[in-house]
Amino acid sequence: MSTTTQLSQFATDTMEGLSRPQKVMLSKYFYDAKGDAIFQQIMAMPEYYLTRSEMEIFQTQKDAIFNQVCPKGLPFNLIELGAGDGSKTKVLLKHFLKMGIDFTYYPVDISQNILDELVAMLKNEIPELDVHPLNMDYFEALKHMEQFTGRKNVTMFLGSNIGNFQVERLDRFLKKLQGYFKPNDKLLLGVDLKKDPDIILEAYNDKPGITASFNMNLLVRMNNELGADFDLNQFKHYAMYEPVTGEARSYVVSLVDQVVRFSELDFEVNFEKGECIHTEISRKYSVKNLNHLSEKCGFVTSANFFDSKQYYVNTMWEVV
Ligand code: AVJ
Repeated sequence: MSTTTQLSQFATDTMEGLSRPQKVMLSKYFYDAKGDAIFQQIMAMPEYYLTRSEMEIFQTQKDAIFNQVCPKGLPFNLIELGAGDGSKTKVLLKHFLKMGIDFTYYPVDISQNILDELVAMLKNEIPELDVHPLNMDYFEALKHMEQFTGRKNVTMFLGSNIGNFQVERLDRFLKKLQGYFKPNDKLLLGVDLKKDPDIILEAYNDKPGITASFNMNLLVRMNNELGADFDLNQFKHYAMYEPVTGEARSYVVSLVDQVVRFSELDFEVNFEKGECIHTEISRKYSVKNLNHLSEKCGFVTSANFFDSKQYYVNTMWEVV
């Protein structure tokens, strides 16, 4: 590699993560075009109940959600962190418009690819909607939101996306967000609840192997973008659920002793047989855990919306 080459953030983060004693990859790197497509397959699979639960909540409780979001009819900015393809959010967007409210939608996503899909879908299905996509990660979005001072702000963090954060990072993130909050501002979180551990594990360890291909796509991405030579047959997806912390954890495990070379980075990594890369945490909460979290971060809960199975909650927070 020549000294003038500017390394991508993906390259830097990969080398940093794979050089640690316990190898890690950041889960935001799942979402290249192929990862976006596999995640859409995950959302459609019977084992991944999360999407259907949140969809049911939006479809059956959109009036109550609207009354919480916009009790005074004030115009607002609607910021959605990790918007993805918008397949669930559009139920709310359509309803809010129908209620004759003035709002601007700011979908934030790490994937430009999925934002393009989202904007195309919205143009087609909700042409009257005012949309400003933001291609950035959550922390960049938080910085960007510093400027959103003029109007009421409603921030949505749906799809159990907060589950991906390390505990301390989430606290810091929510506290910082809380610092920007004005009295009428709202936060709507979509959170997967603790439940029968077998149901949770199935969602991250489906038999057809769609989640496995999602997880292993990180290796494919390193091969394509960083010139790595991961042999997919020499690694496997492994998922587990830990009911005390509520963590569903995903790993990629090396099946043999091996060396992986990154031809574009002058970098190589040794794996012992059985050694793993930790790739994702998808944390689950109890209602008690959530109350504790909101309080710790300076919010009060103004409403909880559950699906009929109580698998999932959309919780509305504000400051007083
Ligand atoms: C998009 C982060 C909410 O953690 O459930 C799905 C991603 N990973 N299956 C989740 C995911 C494995 C998903 N989030």
